[in-house]
Amino acid sequence: MDISARLAEQQAKGLYRRHRVVDGPQQVRLQVDGRRMVSFCSNDYLGLANHPEVKAAFIEGIRQYGAGSGAAHLITGHSRVHRQLEEELAAFTGYDRALLFATGYMANVGVLSALAGRHDVIYQDKLNHASLLDGGLQSRAKMRRYRHIDMEDLRRRLNHETAADGLVVTDGVFSMEGDMAPLPDLAAVVSGSRYMVMVDDAHGFGVLGARGRGSVDAAGLDGTYIPVYMATLGKAMGTFGAFVAGSQEIIEALIQFARSYVYTTAPPSAIAQAARASLKILQQDEERRLRLHENIRYFRTVAMELGLDTGRFATAIQPVVMPDVNSAVAVQRAMEQQGYLIMAIRPPTVPCPCLRITLCSEHVRSDIDGMLDALSVVLKSVDVRV
Ligand SMILES: Cc1ncc(COP(=O)(O)O)c(C=O)c1O
Repeated sequence: MDISARLAEQQAKGLYRRHRVVDGPQQVRLQVDGRRMVSFCSNDYLGLANHPEVKAAFIEGIRQYGAGSGAAHLITGHSRVHRQLEEELAAFTGYDRALLFATGYMANVGVLSALAGRHDVIYQDKLNHASLLDGGLQSRAKMRRYRHIDMEDLRRRLNHETAADGLVVTDGVFSMEGDMAPLPDLAAVVSGSRYMVMVDDAHGFGVLGARGRGSVDAAGLDGTYIPVYMATLGKAMGTFGAFVAGSQEIIEALIQFARSYVYTTAPPSAIAQAARASLKILQQDEERRLRLHENIRYFRTVAMELGLDTGRFATAIQPVVMPDVNSAVAVQRAMEQQGYLIMAIRPPTVPCPCLRITLCSEHVRSDIDGMLDALSVVLKSVDVRV
């Protein structure tokens, strides 16, 4: 099919994507396409992207290390600050060692293609993030997808698969649904098999567990049950990049075999310096995380009173399912008119269209009240029954 026909088809299906242009820093009160709006669609769950200490660390990082890293980690791009951040992340998460990646996407592709090969099998939750699916395809391992958070389905499938080694991979918190993976059950199902569990905790790290240690900590587990832990630094940490934590051997395997690690320029040291400041805040300022959880609780209570069907779990991601793509887009547009930014998420990103609402520690009650009031009026006015 030619490119113009594909673009026209995308448009006709209501699936066309476009940029919004933001002026100024990432924050709850956002200047978007020239208008001030209250944002409910950022992953900056703890408001660290514009935190004065994180920004100061970034600037200090530039002062000491310059703007660019100049080379890949394995050439001359790996600075003392990268090393310090890796050590701090390993200590914080309780794993032997951590390795920085340029992005979460690259971490996932790197891990799956480095740890699994043609003769292995990778089991993935059906709603895992696209980067995990792409990593699985790149690894050339056989890919099997089990029903979303259905541990019986996983158990049945693993029982049939006795010959191969491989990985069982899940999001810790699902990026669109906000569901938490049942990690204790998953660890029990996989234990004693030849499979190794990997958790992508992009949306759990900084939010769940003691001091924000993430989904594995929240589930009372550690590296014995979840040998490969991946989390991003661009969400609750407010900066950019990602890390994988694991045993010495797993990290060595990634350094040797993960092509998305080896063949790319190291992120600037200043970003690592900023992430170190975020990590320090995470460890010292529990108040911020508690405020986020209070906002999540408040949102869920009021949404329920309004009859909205939100997420099943108390995570920062609270979707409202929409009956079809057109309604989702119409509601998003009408909410923008009311000064609230919430994202309509459409297939293929999700199986059913939804409004993805995210909460942040920096929202105040009147933001949540105002948005939910506007949403309940808008849902009636565009005649959407949820
Ligand atoms: C679950 C999950 N994994 C991985 C990623 C990719 O991380 P990054 O944005 O750092 O590439 C994202 C989102 O971006 C995500 O939601």
